[in-house]
Amino acid sequence: MNAIQTVLAAPSARVLLASVPGVTTTSRMPTREPFDVERIRADFPILQLQIDGKPLVYLDNAASSQMPQQVIDRLVRYQTSEHANINRAVHYLSETATAEYETARRKLQRFINAPDEREVIFTSGTTDAINLVMHGYGRKFIKAGDEIILTTLEHHSNIVPWQMLAEETGAKIRVVPINDAGELMIDEYENLFNERTKLVGVMQVSNALGSINPVKQMIAFAHAHGVRVLVDGAQAVPHLQVDVQDLDCDFYAFSGHKLCGPTGIGVLYGKAELLEKMQPFKGGGDMILSVTFEKTIYNTIPHKFEAGTPPIAAAIGLGAAVDYLSAIGMDAITAHELDLLDYATAQMKYMPGVRIIGTAQNKAAVLSFTVDGVHPHDIGTLLNQEGVAVRTGHHCAQPVMQRLKVPATSRASFAFYNTLAEVDALIAGIRSVQKVFA
Ligand code: ALA
Repeated sequence: MNAIQTVLAAPSARVLLASVPGVTTTSRMPTREPFDVERIRADFPILQLQIDGKPLVYLDNAASSQMPQQVIDRLVRYQTSEHANINRAVHYLSETATAEYETARRKLQRFINAPDEREVIFTSGTTDAINLVMHGYGRKFIKAGDEIILTTLEHHSNIVPWQMLAEETGAKIRVVPINDAGELMIDEYENLFNERTKLVGVMQVSNALGSINPVKQMIAFAHAHGVRVLVDGAQAVPHLQVDVQDLDCDFYAFSGHKLCGPTGIGVLYGKAELLEKMQPFKGGGDMILSVTFEKTIYNTIPHKFEAGTPPIAAAIGLGAAVDYLSAIGMDAITAHELDLLDYATAQMKYMPGVRIIGTAQNKAAVLSFTVDGVHPHDIGTLLNQEGVAVRTGHHCAQPVMQRLKVPATSRASFAFYNTLAEVDALIAGIRSVQKVFA
């Protein structure tokens, strides 16, 4: 153990870290149960991989997280003994699959503390969920001259659908700026409101920088002006305890594959009163109560928004994933990931030639950086030779890169199964990159 590792291993790590330069500390955790990361890692078969003879150091969790054996086993059980189509037949397998799919919905409801299971719609992911709101809510309620507020931090998935709507309807997009640290400028946000403002779209945690946005405060302000709010929670749900009732958001979107679940599944939470009024986005089987060539009567929520055969296995797998995360505890996950972030930040901050991009006071476990004289793609390639997986590029957030005047960054994004030793491997990898380019 090096000095900072020793400090972090102490039960009162947060208090002691106050003396480490560059480490942001709070009094949030003077004492807590030890976090048994090695026991957790044993649940993840993929973490045992070697890349070119080096142990895999997987730090690309913001792009997609890994799956524990418990979720893999649940998928295998479903496929080997429970699979049939849902809501369509009275035979044993169809009834079993239907019941398990709806059980998964209730697990997701509890996970985000939604008041009603009907408010949890399974989608194919965050992008699909945001597109559902654009088509179902936006096309019905947003008209020419209306304004939609987005932020500079948004992922392309919470920009492009609204640009499409603006092109179609003549609505306008207004953008909340950020400061040099990557924090939203809340005064500017409040100044954007006027009688034409109809919707706010904001991410809770920035995928490119890790900034945690004050969405609860932003939602309260929007509601005071009669404006609805869609929160992109793709990067928040894996790291923080999310409570949609506490936030009072109107819509909340997230993906399964960043949450130790399968790809092809995500969730849109929406307040029932809004979902009831919205147009379905996709037409087809299962989203109807009756069809004639004269008129179709749509199904009730959430089924109105789940046309066709849904990703049944993926939904059940996601249910198992949130069981897994809940058993560890989201508070414990947050605390461990912040230890990793603090530890990595403390080292990177003082590395000559290395610049951290995104230094918000409130951050989740995402660390974007540049290295003088080295293109991020070269950093990614050389780190990969050390077994270290990071993402490089614009992170589907080109407006953030433009604002901070960087073409791209390298990004290490941590999960609860990462270790301090893996942070050391990242730092050592960056030093090797600098040597190669010296
Ligand atoms: N949005 C994902 C990321 O930030 C893919 O990497």
